[in-house]
Amino acid sequence: MVEDIKVVLDKIEKLPELFHVAVRVAKMLDDLNIDVNQLSRIISLDQALTTQLLKLCNSAQYGFSRKIVTVKDAVAKLGFKTIKSLVFVAISHGILNSAVKGYDLGKGELWKNSISCAVYSRYLAKMSNYKDPETAFTAGLLRDIGKLMIHEYVGINYSNILNTINSEGISFSNAEEQVLGFNHCQIGSAVANKWNFPPILVDTIKYHHNYDAAINEGCEDIKLLSIVHIADSITMMLGNGMGNDGMMYNINLKSLNYLDISQQSASIENLISEMVELKTEIDEMIGIVNGE
Ligand SMILES: [Fe+2]
Repeated sequence: MVEDIKVVLDKIEKLPELFHVAVRVAKMLDDLNIDVNQLSRIISLDQALTTQLLKLCNSAQYGFSRKIVTVKDAVAKLGFKTIKSLVFVAISHGILNSAVKGYDLGKGELWKNSISCAVYSRYLAKMSNYKDPETAFTAGLLRDIGKLMIHEYVGINYSNILNTINSEGISFSNAEEQVLGFNHCQIGSAVANKWNFPPILVDTIKYHHNYDAAINEGCEDIKLLSIVHIADSITMMLGNGMGNDGMMYNINLKSLNYLDISQQSASIENLISEMVELKTEIDEMIGIVNGE
């Protein structure tokens, strides 16, 4: 069953209500003349968001001795960019926490997978002196949103996708494209573009499984894409919220060359052993937003 991507895209009319606040906050945080009071007021309008944001700011990973009790205080202590990431964490939970049956992901698994990829992306960004580790975090968090849009098509066609992988030796995303007419990267980036996400986030969604195409088609920020591509691969290898497509993607090792990291770290095995250490941070973040 080959679907027309435009037909599927037309069905996804509206930006989920929750993302309106995130996009508004993200746009404000990109504005150099941002007004802290105005930003605090917008976030404070949403009580649940404020509560989760403050809990995240007070988590062990930031290690403040005095408790942060207002959004304004949180912005002053952590800075705009970190607050933007945490707003996305809190808001994306409402969308990414649902079960994604076509990929055999139970409730909470895409969420766990996405948070893991976000934390790994930020770690790799810092390690490789990428200019904006918090944007790497958001890019890692949102790279698989296309799965939400096509899971029913994948579910119906899962055996055809598997057969295509087995007979042609291609990756899951290439088999999706062959069987359905498009893959979760293409639909996810088309939707992100429709929702006016920043172009670099649209690109990381579009190319996170197709590194060669990114280079050939002139992806604007290859270093960011390299970070998200490697973080995605490690997320899958470590099995954090892994669905039926878990190990069916190829990592393009050329991406390591763009990271500008020491020879000692420049192997997937070494990076994986470093990422394992981030489990506490990931579990804490998930626990806070889940209200545990
Ligand atoms: Fe993906």
